[in-house]
Amino acid sequence: MEFVKTKDGSNTLFSTKYQQHYHNPDDGAINESLSKHIIPTFEFQNHKEELNILDICFGLGYNTFSTIYYARQNGLNKKLNIYSPELDGELVKSLENFDFPKEFEDMKNIIQTVAKTKKYEDDYLKIEVNIGDAREYIQSFKKETFDIVYQDAFSSEVNTELWTKEYFDDINKICKEDCVISTYAIATPIRLSMNEAGLYIYEHRPVKRKITLACKQKQDIMGKYIDMDLKRQRNKEARAIYDNKTINKAEPC
Ligand SMILES: C[S@@+](CC[C@H](N)C(=O)[O-])C[C@H]1O[C@@H](n2cnc3c(N)ncnc32)[C@H](O)[C@@H]1O
Repeated sequence: MEFVKTKDGSNTLFSTKYQQHYHNPDDGAINESLSKHIIPTFEFQNHKEELNILDICFGLGYNTFSTIYYARQNGLNKKLNIYSPELDGELVKSLENFDFPKEFEDMKNIIQTVAKTKKYEDDYLKIEVNIGDAREYIQSFKKETFDIVYQDAFSSEVNTELWTKEYFDDINKICKEDCVISTYAIATPIRLSMNEAGLYIYEHRPVKRKITLACKQKQDIMGKYIDMDLKRQRNKEARAIYDNKTINKAEPC
């Protein structure tokens, strides 16, 4: 792992295993969490008093910790239950000593507890980090559990198992009817994987980069609707990604 300072001043890592940064250095780790995942999904689920969130995958925990930061900054009186798989147990343990941004200063006790015990719970917040394979972990949830899914794996070229049609079939099952899934990925094969798993695709541009939002029901307020049938008609070569590893080069829409 190599330590990298991002544009908003928050630190991330470069993974030598996946040959990718955990966060885009040009966007900033905390900015990326807030703009690509938390703000768009929380605006959509604004009316709910309790949210079950699936954070795929935990990594440095920015999405989980930024969720707490956002809820505190905005005085949200919601119960948050965050569930997050992560293969790399040593990474989670090391977060006890990670140099997080000042925004996380007042949640040091939460970070320490999660790093040491992989869980945290108080009256308003539950965090569970599961050390293991996300594909197995998601099988352990009942149908229609989640309100929000942060889909934040490494890219499909190197982390293929978390972008396939079959993976999104399993995600779809554990999403509530009004669940929203956020991801930085905008490539057609990924959107086809989601769409073939029964999800509607929307494009949103929170700041400079577009993101994808996906949901089980058509929504009016989600952003620009992307008609995936039209995409298929116009691009006969376009294919979803499947578990059998027939990977297509991810090209932007
Ligand atoms: C891009 S990073 C996630 C960054 C994280 N969301 C954050 O905010 O810091 C992707 C993470 O997925 C983990 N990962 C990759 N494949 C996995 C799998 N099959 N099951 C569980 N974790 C996985 C990697 O170890 C890595 O920590």
